[in-house]
This record gives sequence, structure tokens and C-alpha cells, in this order.
Amino acid sequence: MASSLPPIQSDDSKICVVMVGLPARGKSLIAGKAMRYLAWVGIPARVFNVGSYRRNNTPQPQATFFDPHNEEGERMRRAAAEGALSDMLAWFQAGKGTVAILDATNSTKERRKWIHEQCTAANIETLFVESICDDEDLIMTNILEVKTTSPDYKGQDPELAALDFRKRIRNYEKVYETIDDGEKKYTYVKLINVGSTVIINQIKDYLSSRLVYYIQNLHIKPRSIWLSRHGESEYNLTGRIGGDSNISERGEAYASALPELMRKSGIPENTKIVIWTSTLRRTIQTARHLKAETSFEKLEWKALDELDSGVCDGLTYEQIAEKYPEDFAARDEDKYNYRYRGGESYRDVVIRLEPIIMELERSENVVIVTHQAVLRCIYSYFMNVPQEKSPWMEVPLHTLIKLTPRAYGTEEQRFKADIPAVSTWRGKGTSAKHQDFPADGNEQQK
Ligand code: F6P
Repeated sequence: MASSLPPIQSDDSKICVVMVGLPARGKSLIAGKAMRYLAWVGIPARVFNVGSYRRNNTPQPQATFFDPHNEEGERMRRAAAEGALSDMLAWFQAGKGTVAILDATNSTKERRKWIHEQCTAANIETLFVESICDDEDLIMTNILEVKTTSPDYKGQDPELAALDFRKRIRNYEKVYETIDDGEKKYTYVKLINVGSTVIINQIKDYLSSRLVYYIQNLHIKPRSIWLSRHGESEYNLTGRIGGDSNISERGEAYASALPELMRKSGIPENTKIVIWTSTLRRTIQTARHLKAETSFEKLEWKALDELDSGVCDGLTYEQIAEKYPEDFAARDEDKYNYRYRGGESYRDVVIRLEPIIMELERSENVVIVTHQAVLRCIYSYFMNVPQEKSPWMEVPLHTLIKLTPRAYGTEEQRFKADIPAVSTWRGKGTSAKHQDFPADGNEQQK
């Protein structure tokens, strides 16, 4: 039975998240992550980056452009802010979204007052998110990230770029006003050194509190997340879905190869890594050599169990097509929302994975050994895969995926073990049997 649940909505509020802070304080990272998180839980969101409006006229300005005494610079920066804000208001008015994130320094009280007034007049709540950072190492990491990735410095000598960027920061410091008691009427959250201290003021609605809870869990320390499906299972061999079978002989070979595959993927020295599995046999068996050969701690999560296929558990796709033809067609029609009779949909899985994502954001290095559907959902969160595509993604067995979050997105590497396994991927409109796929042992880099 296909369910037609609406997207996860909390209430009718529309929110403008207003980023506040000096350059190199992780604002764009927080903005981008919040947008991906909201999209993942089904809340339409968009980032309006004032810098990109400014770049239309001034693509690669020097630090002097940001000097508060530079009248022409001031005028153009004001015009960029106005352009972003008016596009944002039009976006809300056209009913295109629930949360807009205004990514800029918004560093003066006057600027924040203006944004607050404009939003209030349009019936939009504001949530100011200030990122304060005095940890020199964190600032330096951010400067390095910006000078190598920002379009403002594209093609420039990285050392000169870093110098100019520091001068730009000094110009902002001349006028910067932190959110203080005079702004108590606003809803705001102040993040000090990315999450080590958090001050929250006047959160009124559920959606804002959910967002603040998410933002509070973020950190920007370098780390990686490794994702792997369990080794090939006995059910995989016979094309059956669900169940709690053991891993096959080839699955066992993958389990033995996993510690070496992890090493090959590059484990930074002196790093603590934690292994997460589901509570099902096939993931626990797959992770057991990794646990035994390393000193990694291991946790079993019920929330990482495979999508519950209800009455179809233990059947092959062909049997499902025969026994429940309408359901089979309905699932193909809207795979993300289709809920198995007595079981789950992909949307249900995303909802139960939310605490896992929160915990992942708080954690550092984690290896997750889980299942096809669950892995598609986790991967989609990090890689921003839209809901209609994520249930159809190919996530092959015996392949380790390494994700490394960066300021402007997530870097992906794949490491394939040289151990054959069946393919459990099924294309839309087919009831394909699980098939063997060749292992070529190649590392794929994306
Ligand atoms: O076939 C392996 C498996 O993990 C099943 O247990 C599960 O039902 C299925 O994959 C999920 O994939 P899909 O949503 O494409 O059917």
C-alpha cells in the first residue's frame, strides 16, 4: 500500500536563519550543513549567500573593498545584502520554502535590525546564529580552507590570498558588534568555538528548536566517516530480502579483508575510531575481525537495522511481484514514500535515523557497517542526494566508502575489495534476480 504522507512539517512557521560572525568562523559550513539536514528531513530550505550577490559586480575584491571607510565598497556591499534579502522574500512569497539561510557576516546591530524588520513585516520569524571563535587553530584551519576553495581567491597565490584574507578580517573587526543584551528580543543562538559553549535565547517554535539542536551538535574538527554494507549474506545469495541470515563464505572473506581495506583507505595516525553496526547478525559478523584486530570500540544500534519489509520479509522481488502486484508497482512509482504492509518506507527510515545523524555530527571518526537501504539514507544526508533518487542508488556489496567532510561539501573515496558478491540492486520496473558482479579490486575515486 503506497502511503502519501506529507513531507515532515513541524508547523506553519517560516524561518529566516541569519548567520552572524566575522569571516573564517565556519558560517558557510554551518549554513550548508543546516540546509542539507533540512532537505534530508523533507523541509524545503535554501541558502542565500550575500557574497555571491556581491561577486556579480566585484568578483575578486581586495581587502580595502571591505574597509568601513570605503564608501563605494560600503554601497556595493549594502546593495548585495539588499539583493539577497529581496530574492529571499520573493522566494518565501512564492511558497517555495520553509527555511531560508542568509549567509553573510551581518556583523552590525543596524544590519540585524534591518533584517529583523524586513522579515517581521513579511511574517517570517528570524533566528540569528552567531559563530564566535577565538581559537587560533580553528581560525587558521578556516583561513586555509577559504584561501583554497573560495571563488574570491581563485587562481591567486595562496600565500597572498591568506594575507589579504587576514586584512579583510581586520576590516570587519573594526565594526563588528557581537549580539548582546540589547538584542534580547531576538531569537538567537551564540556558538562559541563551534559548539564548546552555546547560548540560546528566546526559541519560540518547534522547528527553530530542532534546528538549534542540530546546529549545537556540529563541530569542524577534521574526521572521516566510513560506510560499508555487511558482507554478502545467505539471503543475498538466494535473492531474498530482509531476514537475519548469516554472511556467506564470500561475505566472510570480506569481513576478514575489512581491516586491511580500512588501512588502505588511510587512517590518520593516533585517531580514535568507533565501529557502529546494526543489531542484525550480518553486520555484527562483518565487523568482528575489524573489532578484533584493532582496538576500536563497537556499538550496536537498533536504528541501523535494515528497512523493515513487513509481510514481504524473506521473499524475493519476483515473489513480491507475484503475490502483491499492486504493492510492487506502487513501490516503483514512489519508492521513497511507499511503506511495506506492516513495515517501513524510506521516509520512515530517515526519521528513525535522525538521532544517528545527530550522534554522527557530535562524533569524530566512525565506521558504520549497515544495510543497503540504511546506507542509502545516510549517504544521501552527507552527499545531498534528493529523496526521489536516494532509494535507487547503487551501493555495491564489498565496497568501503570513505566520506571526509570539508567546509564546502563532502569528499568521497571508494575502496572495492577484490572479493566477488551478488548484486542486490534492482532497477525500476524489473524484478531482477540478484546477480553476480565481478570484483576488479580497483579503488574508485570521485
Ligand atoms: O537485498 C538486500 C536488502 O538489504 C534487503 O534486505 C532490503 O529489503 C533491500 O536490500 C532494500 O533495497 P530496495 O529498497 O532497493 O529493495
